[in-house]
This record gives sequence, C-alpha cells and structure tokens, in this order.
Amino acid sequence: MPPRIRAAGAPVKVVGGSASLPLARALARELSIPLADVSFEKHPGGFPDGERYVRLQDAVAGEHVVLVQTTHPDPMLVEYFLLADAIRDAGASRLTAIIPYFGYGRQDKRFAEGEAVSAKTLAKHIALDADELLTMTIHNPDVLGLFPIRAREVSGVPAIGRYLKSAGVDLVLAPDDGAIRLAKEASAIAGTPYDYLDKERLDSYTVRVTPKELRVKGKVVAIVDDMISTGGTIATAAKELKAQGATRVIASCVHGLFVGRAEENLKVCDEVVATDTIVSAHTKVTVAPEFARAVRELAR
Ligand code: R5P
Repeated sequence: MPPRIRAAGAPVKVVGGSASLPLARALARELSIPLADVSFEKHPGGFPDGERYVRLQDAVAGEHVVLVQTTHPDPMLVEYFLLADAIRDAGASRLTAIIPYFGYGRQDKRFAEGEAVSAKTLAKHIALDADELLTMTIHNPDVLGLFPIRAREVSGVPAIGRYLKSAGVDLVLAPDDGAIRLAKEASAIAGTPYDYLDKERLDSYTVRVTPKELRVKGKVVAIVDDMISTGGTIATAAKELKAQGATRVIASCVHGLFVGRAEENLKVCDEVVATDTIVSAHTKVTVAPEFARAVRELAR
C-alpha cells in the first residue's frame, strides 16, 4: 500500500468508541465540533457471543475525523479496529487516533525468546488506518518510536495535579522511580514538594518497597502513578505512608484499570482518583482539555 498523504486542516468530527464516549463527548465540546452518531448493537443486547459491532450513522467522506477509543478491556481494542476501518471505508480524508490508554504498552520488548512484542504489534496495526496517534501518559514513551506514523504522548498529569491542588495535598509521592516524572509534574501544579519510593516487583501481584523516612507525619499525601492495575503498588506505598503517620492518603492515577482485588487492596487509601482515559467508579477528572490542545497543535 503506498504511504498516505495526510490531508491538511482542522478536524470536522469526533467519533467515540463505546469505551470512551464521555471523553469523546467532552473533547467534541472542547473543539466545538460534532460527535458522530454510531450504533454499537445490531440486535438489542448485542451479539450472543459478545462480538463487537459498529455502524457509523453520520457521513465522514472527505473529512478529518478524530477517533477516541481506549483499549481496555480487550474487546474495546477490536472495536477500535472496526471503527477505524469503517471510518476509512466511509472516505474520511484524515484519521487522528486518540487512544487514551495504550494497552499492551508494558510488553514493550521480547523478554523471552519467541514472545510477541505486543506494543509493536499494536503500533503496526493502528498505523494501517490512522494517519497519526495521540496517546496519554504511556508506560514507556520509547514505544512511540515503534509507530510508522507520527505518534505523540500527551500528559494526563495536569488533570490530576489540578484535582490534588483543590484537595489540599501537602506532598506528592511517586511509588517507584518510573513515576518520578509524573510526581514532579503533579507537584509543580499542586504547589507541593515531591518524594519517591524504591519499588521491587516480586510478581504480577506483589511488590516490595525499600524502607525510607518520608517526613509525612500529620500530612495529606497523594500517591501519583501512570496506572493502577491490581492496586498492589499503590497499597504498598499507602501502608508505608500510614505507618509513618500520614493522616490522609489519596491514590491517584491517569489510567484506572482496577483489576482483580484492586478495590480490596485500595481500602488502605482514604480516596482514589482517576481520569476518564478508562471510565470507572473512581473517574473524577477529565483529560479532554489536554487532548483538545494536542489536536489543535496537530491541525496547525
Ligand atoms: C509499573 O511500573 C506501573 O507504573 C504501575 O506502578 C503498575 O503497573 C501498577 O500495577 P499494580 O496496580 O498491579 O501494582
């Protein structure tokens, strides 16, 4: 297939996948363009085997379309591909993919012979239909280099930082060294100092932190991470903070997956905050302004 020439111009419509409709709606509002009508069910209740179905109800021929769909849970990734293909088949001139949470990003290399480099697999297939990609606070930014199209990371931390500022936080803590860049950014917005812990992962469910004096007695502390999956990382850090006298611990993340025993694990925290890159009961802030700014920059 010859390389596609990206059509110039601002986006005309936003298409939202069923996992990202609130964010897609908020983004369309920020950009002052319509959210396209899409149906997700051929029959009431969907297909009995759970397979996804999409049908664009609005015309997009000749238009620059922004598609917003997160990759969690897994069937939403299939739905992303169905939507991207349908948008192309309907004649869109340019497709900007916004994948708020880029799943499979942690399998970013071949850890053992014969494994798939899952992040590369996704990058290759997303580039078949999309002209460019925007994603948010990705686990390893090097993954963006695996895309054969323009791919950019947008930070979701400002949305968290604004929330923490209004919550009267005294200190922002990174639960491991990978999250230091996030804690630094959030603390600058919240107007607090930041600190970090050294974490060692023992298995998918268990982590250990190196004991360290944190000076948090009587303080409100927010832990900031890119994602909460099982909640093991945050819970371990929260226990350490409580043991050292923190009065209130807020667990915050950009991507809230909350799988397995996460809710149980997070009971040690006084509050949990996540953005709308993945919609959950803990979604309290939107990243629509961050994506709107990035889309406007692309269109320039
Ligand atoms: C790992 O380095 C990530 O930044 C997160 O800390 C981790 O994926 C969170 O996973 P869990 O909630 O299962 O500890």
